[in-house]
Amino acid sequence: MKILLIGHGGREHALLWKLKQDAPGAEFFATRPNPGMAPLAHPVDLASDDVEGLATWAEGAQINLTIVGPEVPLANGIADIFRKRSLPLFGPTSAAARLESSKAFAKELMQRSGVPTADYRCFTRWEDAEAHIRDHEAPLVVKASGLAAGKGAIVCSTTEEALEAAREMLKEAAFGPAGREIVIEEFMQGEEISMFAVTDGRHVIPLLPSQDHKQIGEGDTGPNTGGMGAYAPVPSLAPELTDRVRDEIYLPILDAMERAATPFRGLLYAGLMLTDSGPRVVEFNCRFGDPETQAVLPLMDSPLLELLVAVARGGSIEGFVPEFRGGAALNTVLASEGYPGHYETGRAITIPDELVQDPDLLIFHAGTAEGEDGPVTSGGRVLSVVGLGADLEEARARSLKGARAIEFEGKTFRSDIGWRAFSPESSPRG
Ligand code: AMP
Ligand code: GLY
Repeated sequence: MKILLIGHGGREHALLWKLKQDAPGAEFFATRPNPGMAPLAHPVDLASDDVEGLATWAEGAQINLTIVGPEVPLANGIADIFRKRSLPLFGPTSAAARLESSKAFAKELMQRSGVPTADYRCFTRWEDAEAHIRDHEAPLVVKASGLAAGKGAIVCSTTEEALEAAREMLKEAAFGPAGREIVIEEFMQGEEISMFAVTDGRHVIPLLPSQDHKQIGEGDTGPNTGGMGAYAPVPSLAPELTDRVRDEIYLPILDAMERAATPFRGLLYAGLMLTDSGPRVVEFNCRFGDPETQAVLPLMDSPLLELLVAVARGGSIEGFVPEFRGGAALNTVLASEGYPGHYETGRAITIPDELVQDPDLLIFHAGTAEGEDGPVTSGGRVLSVVGLGADLEEARARSLKGARAIEFEGKTFRSDIGWRAFSPESSPRG
């Protein structure tokens, strides 16, 4: 079997690591693999958003399965192009990927399907947005409707901030075309979790719930990043939460997508706020999350590949029961100093041998490149250091030990990943 993975960050390294265990005999290919992925996959020198080029290459190489990591190629129709050429691909069509690429679309569908989410209105005219903001008490959340690399949502604690955010998006085009339409939402109070589910369009196989840490600073302070760490599972969630999310959120959305003749097949990631009135949707993403994937997949004992193949071939996943080992995984992201703002690259990375040999420590590469004498930094988020353990405490200790032992100039990380699970007043939820 020949498998092509599109993307080359920490999420894709974790996917490759898992799929390689599921199919040790398969031949893997990846677009511009980072040095962590390179020993596991043949390189394909095409950009992950070169959707036509990738389809032509996959056809020539007789690829049996393509898996898409990032959202941009999905929004750009990679699944549609592959389907036209009868090439099996795991990921939704561009029409279905609108659940992520258009917040206005996702909100309208949720409202129509009775899926719990924040109250909202959409605007394209500044005057209308301004009147709405003045009419509604802060806090409010102002969001660019289109794809904005995770930076398009601004939580505004005052009316002034909300006006400023809306003005920047609609009048000053601060988010380019992504902010031509904006969504203004009610602020939801609660704790946030991420839920991944594989779906064939009708059936839903939820994976373990996880929690991301989006802000750069400890205690969740400072600007948002792509994600500074994650852990799974989220302890003390109500046991029926996953069933509730399936029944109240996933199934009505999938049903509405199917009825609109745009079925969603792939990985549907729900960002959920656990509020006093139950789980409510913050956002949908049409692909695996980064950095949560690096914590969720190492806990999955059953093969992932079987599920992805079934969905990519248009089959059913009904009755599939995923198995997860007990224990926990915690991912500490090592970033470059200055991230999410400006940062330097090309810094030599030293990973002590004893870390590489520890079976309960996994080091996934993200922004790394091959230098003259080994790996060097090449991006904002450099490595994911994933500790496994019998419980979250053990997983955290291992991850932190690794994070401290790896060296590169300007290394920055949060040492408080998982803090909500450890805080004494933590009594989740859902
Ligand atoms: P989004 O891009 O929609 O995922 O939003 C980014 C982040 O902003 C989320 O992960 C939340 O932490 C926060 N956020 C977004 N919408 C809301 C909301 N309605 N209430 C509270 N926080 C929100
Ligand atoms: N963890 C956030 C994301 O993948 O969008």
